Formats: sequence, structure tokens, C-alpha cells
Amino acid sequence: MFYLKYRPHTIAEIDNVKARETIARFLNSNSLPHAFLFIGQKGTGKTSTARILAKSINCEKTRYFNKKFTNIEPCNQCPNCKSIDNDSSPDVVEMDAASNRGIDEIKNLIQNTAFTPMHSHFRVFIIDEAHQITHDGFNVLLKTLEEPPTSVVFILATTNPEKVPPTILSRCVPVNFGLASSVDIKNMLERIIKSEKLSVSSEVLDLISSHSDNSFRDAAKLLQELISQNKLDLEKAQDYIGIRGNNILLTLLDSKTIEDSLRWVQEFTKSGGNIKSLISDLLSQLHKLLMIKNKILDEKTKITLSQQQILRLMKLFNEAYSNLLATPNESIPLEIAIMEYYNVK
Ligand SMILES: Nc1ncnc2c1ncn2[C@@H]1O[C@H](COP(=O)(O)OP(=O)(O)OP(=O)(O)O)[C@@H](O)[C@H]1O
Ligand SMILES: [Mg+2]
Ligand SMILES: [Zn+2]
Repeated sequence: MFYLKYRPHTIAEIDNVKARETIARFLNSNSLPHAFLFIGQKGTGKTSTARILAKSINCEKTRYFNKKFTNIEPCNQCPNCKSIDNDSSPDVVEMDAASNRGIDEIKNLIQNTAFTPMHSHFRVFIIDEAHQITHDGFNVLLKTLEEPPTSVVFILATTNPEKVPPTILSRCVPVNFGLASSVDIKNMLERIIKSEKLSVSSEVLDLISSHSDNSFRDAAKLLQELISQNKLDLEKAQDYIGIRGNNILLTLLDSKTIEDSLRWVQEFTKSGGNIKSLISDLLSQLHKLLMIKNKILDEKTKITLSQQQILRLMKLFNEAYSNLLATPNESIPLEIAIMEYYNVK
């Protein structure tokens, strides 16, 4: 799988620019925090970066191991790097709090922090989905975070920081992975196609990055799907993702009646179109229109919607998008949005 094969293994390969820079700053500074909280949506690189950080501070070829070095980039060759990469290092403990969330599991983990590192300078405890830890579990963890042993680094990763108690938050250094931006995703895709010696047009890469839910993992999966289905040219890729002809809907909303628009959505659904992709595409088109209207983008458009209409449509489509999860029939939220739009139009 591309998303596993191309998981970043070095700091330089972390395509999420902001997170990369933050991590590098900490590693270059003279005071390494004892606890990090990696915050970000799924597939934005939290787990991958946690492992890279563990390697950096334990690699035999970085400044952490030997003062004669100044670099922070793990070598990926030494026994410490290799054992972390293949998950066999006794000094790096990874725990998934989705399944190990109770007081006993956390106590168990904490007991581990008492041992000094076997082969390296730091013992690193990576707790994924940290927000799932129970109340009592957090209390046990808190005690250790208050007085951590000097050779221990905690990395808590979460998609839901609002569910982590403030007492824990205040003892961790936050690193924000946010959402993967389309520029960062495109860089990752380019890294993959270069290494796979493929040629894929820039338009197709844009299409993939705008249909991957701001997740590096989803983007890598979609690229692989398009390759294996032989859908690498733009039209085929659009067809596959289910958004061909999307432009028509915005034109219809601009100039035609509610019946025309609703009928189009029905046809779109009947022919197997993907509503989620459609709405996300409409949103990026509206966003682009907004940029054109405000002279930030220098392009021409035939669409005559006013700024206010564009904003209303964006709000309605955003709402429809977030309602997709809670509906038995995916076209309903979109149809509601269209009807509400015409109601005041
Ligand atoms: N910064 C990145 N640069 C390049 N590829 C990345 C990056 N982050 C993630 N990926 C890709 O996405 C996949 C998932 O990354 P990772 O498991 O680190 O994300 P995560 O944030 O821990 O996600 P989750 O919340 O779902 O556990 C990786 O295997 C890799 O292919
Ligand atoms: Mg993860
Ligand atoms: Zn190394």
C-alpha cells in the first residue's frame, strides 16, 4: 500500500510543513520537552512523526547520542533506528488508547517509565488516540507528567483535544498537525509518483488532493486506486471520483429554475455520482469564485452570482456536507440546500 510504503521516515519527508518546522525547532533547541501533544485530523502524520521523533532522539548518529554531531535527522541505518522502524525497540513503547484506556493499562505503562533505556538515551511512550483514556487513567498519567523521569518522553496523539483534561493539556507541549493542506498533499503525491516513476498530470494531482478529506493517507489511497483502475487521465479520474459535469450545477443555480437544479441532482445520483465529492467540489468552485470576485485570483468566469449569493451557497453546502453522515439518503442534504437557496434567491 502506498500509504504504508511512503510513510515519512525522516524529518525532511514530513510533508506537513508547519508540523515539520515545529518538531525541528524543538529537536534543535537545548531543552527537549518531556511531553508532547500531537493534535490533528486522521491521516495528518501524528503517528509517523512520533516515530520519527523517537528515532531522532535515539539514533546513534544525531546530536542526542553523540555531542560531536549537530544534526537531528535520524540515519535510519543504525540498530536503534532500525529497531524503532520495525517496532522491536524496547525503548519505544506504543500504546493505542482506543483499546487500552483504563487505569490498569495506564499503570502498567507508567511502571515501564521507571526502567532506564536499554539501548538508547530516551524511552519514548507514544499514546495514540489519547483522548480515549478514562478519567482514572488520566489521573495516573498526570502524576507522572508532573514529575517525569529525566530519560522519558511522552508523545500523546489525538484527533479530539477538547476531550483531553486541561490538567494534562497544560503539561504537554502542543504540536498542531491541523488538516493536511492541498499544497502539502500535492508534495506528498509528487514524492510518490517520482519514486514510482509514473507521470501524472498536475490537474489530476489537484483533483486527488481536493478529494482526500485533507488527509495524507486518503490521498495516497486514492492515487493508488486511480493507478490500479487505470484512471490516470483527467476525464477518467473525474468520472471515477464521480464529479464529472459538476460545473453544470453551479451554472444551473446561477441561471435556471429550481426544477432544473433538482432534476440534475437526481440524474447525477442515478448515474452513480458521489454526492460527497460533488459538494466538496462545489465548495472549492465557490471558493475560487470568491477569490475571483475579490480580485485575488485573476481569472474569468461566466457565473454571475453575487458575493452574497456565493456566501449563502457556501454556508448551505457546508451544512449539507456535515449532514451527510447523519442521513440515510445522501442526496437529501444537498436537495435541502438547493431548496433553501431558491427560497430566498
Ligand atoms: N506529513 C506527512 N507527509 C507525508 N505523508 C504522510 C504524512 N503524514 C501522513 N502521511 C501518510 O499518511 C499515512 C498515515 O499517517 P499517520 O498514521 O502518521 O497519520 P495519523 O495522523 O497518525 O492518523 P490517524 O489519526 O488516523 O492515526 C502515512 O502512512 C503516510 O502515508
Ligand atoms: Mg495515528
Ligand atoms: Zn540511526
